[in-house]
Amino acid sequence: MKDPTTRKPVLQIDNLGKYFPVTRGIFRREVARVQAVDNLFLKLYPGETLGIVGESGCGKSTLARLIVRLLDPSRGKVNIELDDPRLHHLRDNRTGLIDITKIPRKSLLEYRAKVQMVFQDPYMSLNPRMRVGTAIREVMEVQKNVEPSKRNARVAELLTDVGLRADMADRYPHEFSGGQRQRVSIARALAAEPSILVADEPVSALDVSVQAQVVQMLLEIQSKYRLSMIFISHDLSVVKYVSDRVAVMYLGEVVECGKTDEIFNSPRHPYTEALMRSVPRLGVAANEIDVISGEIPSNISPPPGCKFNPRCKYRQNICSTKVPHNVDDGDGNLSRCHFTNELKLDGIL
Ligand SMILES: Nc1ncnc2c1ncn2[C@@H]1O[C@H](COP(=O)(O)OP(=O)(O)OP(=O)(O)O)[C@@H](O)[C@H]1O
Ligand SMILES: [Mg+2]
Repeated sequence: MKDPTTRKPVLQIDNLGKYFPVTRGIFRREVARVQAVDNLFLKLYPGETLGIVGESGCGKSTLARLIVRLLDPSRGKVNIELDDPRLHHLRDNRTGLIDITKIPRKSLLEYRAKVQMVFQDPYMSLNPRMRVGTAIREVMEVQKNVEPSKRNARVAELLTDVGLRADMADRYPHEFSGGQRQRVSIARALAAEPSILVADEPVSALDVSVQAQVVQMLLEIQSKYRLSMIFISHDLSVVKYVSDRVAVMYLGEVVECGKTDEIFNSPRHPYTEALMRSVPRLGVAANEIDVISGEIPSNISPPPGCKFNPRCKYRQNICSTKVPHNVDDGDGNLSRCHFTNELKLDGIL
């Protein structure tokens, strides 16, 4: 058994919030705010894959964009371990981590190298007019992390790593299948030598038949390059397959985080139980699937107390008045429910 105190996260998110203004009229007066991410706590440990699940609109992509700093947070901190000497002066003396909002714009290049993102649609991240070899080499030119004379060899190695052939470097993105294009964009992300990979629905746009191959390849490169990975997906079976731990999001918050088998087999939060049991699965007739009752509340005015309380079948009075605590077990695992220690919830074995 690991001693929790010796395990240091590579990413620690504290009380993160991202609010988007809702405006009206020609003067774009702010009339409300969408709380896309709110009161969110999360830890990612070295070399692990952390799956993130939750219904559409719960804030998964917003969280991913905050981590790679495509968005700036409205509140809270995203702290990251970065071993890049160019950023050492920004480290917190106590934790050794860097709050990414403190990284000045001119140093964002170094930051972005270490925390790379893979998007759902590989077309978006590849320039259609650039040969893929050139696109991968461009990253090394910008980052200056590989000597010029070694860049072509590195391109060839990266293409092989992601399951393509070295001679494919001369092709253009449209000459690849969807799955191959996603492999190219992963090779391009790797060219920057990241320590953290944030994959937002990386296989959701692909044919089911190639999803498994791309997922398998991701796991192989993760172990080869010792990456810590955040894997976002609405497909619970993929998440179950790839993740060491899983974080369950609801209305912008992480409501439960735990080891994958515990999340699936013995959830501790009523929303996790409801989410698991709402998914069609083998051996369970369609009429036995439990649809989560009630509508997802608006993230403009979420319910007070526990945000899940209006839909929760275990609700008690305290649930609509008091926000559940946010204490993890020292290993990043938590369940934000007032009754987490009393409930006996069902998983999907
Ligand atoms: N730029 C933006 N401006 C305004 N609202 C936004 C913006 N980006 C996201 N939102 C809102 O924030 C909420 C969370 O969106 P997000 O895309 O993070 O959800 P998601 O969990 O990734 O959903 P999906 O599973 O459908 O991809 C949604 O209500 C969305 O409409
Ligand atoms: Mg999304």
